Amino acid sequence: MQSTKLNAQITAVGMYVPDKVLDNKYFEEIVETNDEWIVSRTGIKERRKMENGATSDMAANAILDLLKTTSVKAEEIDVIIVATVTPDMFFPATACLVQDKIGAKNAWGFDLSAACSGFLFALQTGAALIESGRYKKVIVVGSDKMTAISDYTDRNTCILFGDAASAILLEPTEDLSYGLIDTLLYTDGSGKDALNMKGGGSLNPSSHETVDNKMHYIYQDGKAVFKVAVKGMADISYEVMKKNNLESDDIAYLVPHQANLRIIDATANRMGIEKEKVMINIHKYGNTTAATIPSCLTEYYRAGKLKKGDNLILAAFGAGYTWGAAYVKWSLD
Ligand code: COA
Repeated sequence: MQSTKLNAQITAVGMYVPDKVLDNKYFEEIVETNDEWIVSRTGIKERRKMENGATSDMAANAILDLLKTTSVKAEEIDVIIVATVTPDMFFPATACLVQDKIGAKNAWGFDLSAACSGFLFALQTGAALIESGRYKKVIVVGSDKMTAISDYTDRNTCILFGDAASAILLEPTEDLSYGLIDTLLYTDGSGKDALNMKGGGSLNPSSHETVDNKMHYIYQDGKAVFKVAVKGMADISYEVMKKNNLESDDIAYLVPHQANLRIIDATANRMGIEKEKVMINIHKYGNTTAATIPSCLTEYYRAGKLKKGDNLILAAFGAGYTWGAAYVKWSLD
């Protein structure tokens, strides 16, 4: 017997950002930089810092925020996927810690590592579990405590990143015109040298030497990443739009990963999408890695700017390299 075809749709959203704000003035005092440079080159004005607690605490808070908005109970969650590059520990998985913290006692889960593309990779993975018909309630949460791996003596990177978490709930729909309609995802490991954290893994186990050589911090060749990120994100967004016969007028919002306002502008230009139709929160939070896209969705939805049936193009580029774009038809009123 042929089983019913299902799509995965987003039925609830939530987010968490820590209270502590690091504005550009803060960085003027610790490295050679200034507010004007940071705003004009990146679009970032502030970012948040998690002072007490880890990635799992932010993820749990984001999911609890989501659960407040739905009748779904923690015990009903089937799967928790945590997209992160800043897990609490190598093991157990952050998903286990989150499962315990929210009391999702019937869930299994795992972490997914795809850096700034983590949310999109996890969205596709969660959607596949729903589409299989086997799971009914999948939480995808992007959570990153980037301040834990930022070198506050390196002006090239420390100004860029912040801490946040944001979650979505995926549930099945038989109406195949809603939910996650299409995704294009890629990896290219030849980009590994441009953006990474070298220390602490099996290649360079933690030692005094790895600490002395600052190998437990983010390393980024900003210029190299900028060039490929602009092309990667713009091309893939255009590709997913064309593949689904969408014109720019058909799109309610571009929801881009928030790494740099100039990368976002280039992507919107390539798609022919005007500024008002681009979700932005980089000025408030900086680059929060796996949390950027769902936090944009949460904030714009809560501001009443999204309506059922809106066509959204989600797009990201990150370390790996990893990149991708997704076409989502919004399901919430
Ligand atoms: N304040 C002041 N000057 C700074 C600075 C800061 N915080 N950071 C770097 N600079 C300096 C550089 O040292 C360089 O000086 P030099 O010419 O004397 O060497 C100069 O500014 C220009 O650096 P450049 O790297 O060309 O700047 P940029 O315009 O490319 O902006 C980034 C730098 C990091 C903002 C940009 O390259 C970027 O966004 N890269 C991609 C980031 C990204 O997307 N990462 C995550 C992928 S998801």
